[in-house]
Amino acid sequence: MAAIDEALLKLTEKALGELDQTDDEAGLENWRTEYLGRRGALTEHMRSVGQLSPEERPAAGQAANAAKARIESAFGERKTRIDELSLDRQLEAERIDVTLPARRLYAGGLHPVTQTLRRILEIFRDMGFQVAEGPEVELDKYNFEALNIPPEHPARDMFDTFYVNPPSVLLRTHTSPNQARIMERVPPPIRVVVPGRCYRYESQDASHEWMFHQVEGLAVDAGLTMADLKGVLVAFAQRMFWPEVQCRFRCDYFPFVEPGVDMSVQCPICRGKGCRVCKMSGWIEMLGAGMVHPRVLRNVGYDPDAVNGFAFGMGPERITMVKHAIDDIRLFYGNDLRFLAQFN
Ligand code: FA5
Repeated sequence: MAAIDEALLKLTEKALGELDQTDDEAGLENWRTEYLGRRGALTEHMRSVGQLSPEERPAAGQAANAAKARIESAFGERKTRIDELSLDRQLEAERIDVTLPARRLYAGGLHPVTQTLRRILEIFRDMGFQVAEGPEVELDKYNFEALNIPPEHPARDMFDTFYVNPPSVLLRTHTSPNQARIMERVPPPIRVVVPGRCYRYESQDASHEWMFHQVEGLAVDAGLTMADLKGVLVAFAQRMFWPEVQCRFRCDYFPFVEPGVDMSVQCPICRGKGCRVCKMSGWIEMLGAGMVHPRVLRNVGYDPDAVNGFAFGMGPERITMVKHAIDDIRLFYGNDLRFLAQFN
């Protein structure tokens, strides 16, 4: 046998032998470079056929081509096999046991007071009120002065105020400053509700927080009366609580209304019989309200002889406490998920 045929035979056997040993893509690629690459052993062999004499060349060329075809086809088969193996390995590594119980997902929920706020706004929107907002850091001018509460007025004692430097800036103690802010901006008629946070420098107890919410209501038009105020608030309570709910209006004093009232609703826990939540009175105070004081109208440039209005300010925390029989307001802002998650 000619030396060149012998070399080809050895080369072929070595190549096929090593091919059998490869078991991953990297090994296969190394093997391919070593035998079939541009400087690979088989390529070199083909090149050496070109150096032979013209008589020897055809037979050696044919043998080389046949060997190349054999090697390439073995390579193709091996590649298919290795691809299958690697897919098997990947599937094994990424295997999931679909019979395992899923991990429980804890979804967040809306804070109970947020839920109450949304419900309050929804009810008033249905009655034709718009929704507006105002700043929590407020000017003395709007929080007090525009509301008929001048600096020396004793009513300022009602509101224990957080002052910010300079002292003409403060954290609003109620949402009523928005009455003046809104009337300054738009002419009557007005029907608006304003939700927001309020701050009072007072000690906390079961029904008082230093930060709480209010929803202010304001309607201004020609010929509004106390009957309109009562009608709107009773309609609100009937939807917020239940259709036969009893509402009680009593005289109260706020410098920015005349006359002024507070409204209580029959305790939804005991329905008026008396219980721990209503402190045995059968009633729960919900809000302050009244007919907008003529001086407040004049302060914003309205003519109190042409238009009048009513206003109210209610506490969503108290409403939520009543709805869910919660006996301590401090639970709302204690960030205890065991409490909050009950409202999800
Ligand atoms: C006012 O703040 C008046 N601005 C309400 C008003 C508006 C009267 C328009 C007339 C016309 P009062 O201080 O009573 O009033 O508060 C109103 C409601 O806010 C209370 O009924 C209560 O529900 C809630 N509230 C007041 N202080 C606190 C507090 N510290 N913690 C939780 N809720 C409070």
